[in-house]
Amino acid sequence: MSNGCECGCGGKDEKLEKIREVIAKCNGDKSQLIHVLNEVQELYGYVPTYVQKVISDEMDIPMAEIYGVITFYSRFSLEAKGKYNISVCLGTACYVKGSQAVLDKVKEILGIDVGGVTADGKFSIEQTRCVGACGLAPVMTVNNDVYGNMDPSKVKDILAKYE
Ligand code: FES
Repeated sequence: MSNGCECGCGGKDEKLEKIREVIAKCNGDKSQLIHVLNEVQELYGYVPTYVQKVISDEMDIPMAEIYGVITFYSRFSLEAKGKYNISVCLGTACYVKGSQAVLDKVKEILGIDVGGVTADGKFSIEQTRCVGACGLAPVMTVNNDVYGNMDPSKVKDILAKYE
């Protein structure tokens, strides 16, 4: 078994070794795929393609099936996120109260689009559908912090807290 990092960076990939251990404990039980993906999401913050390949090889599950599971469940992400992931709700209640303008302001300040990560890895942006806080619309979250009654003029000060 190789300890080399399979992403090509040449370093030791301790996270991948941990995932291999999790897979080994599944004893070939394919129904444990979600459990394994949960561990990957927790460790990496997303599910990198090269890790999907390792899971596919070691659990004998087609890549397409793994991809299908990742895209079905919103808790799994295919892309790296920033240290602070900003999420703006575009669900109906938030949208009618102007959440698109909030999202546009976040994009303008950070200079990245939805799905992007800033060059320093600090911020990423995503848009979501109703997060269950419609009474606070429009809603923006930064990791687990929830900001309600948002207004584009509040975005700069909120982001500054995470600098
Ligand atoms: S629509 Fe945004 S929280 Fe419900």
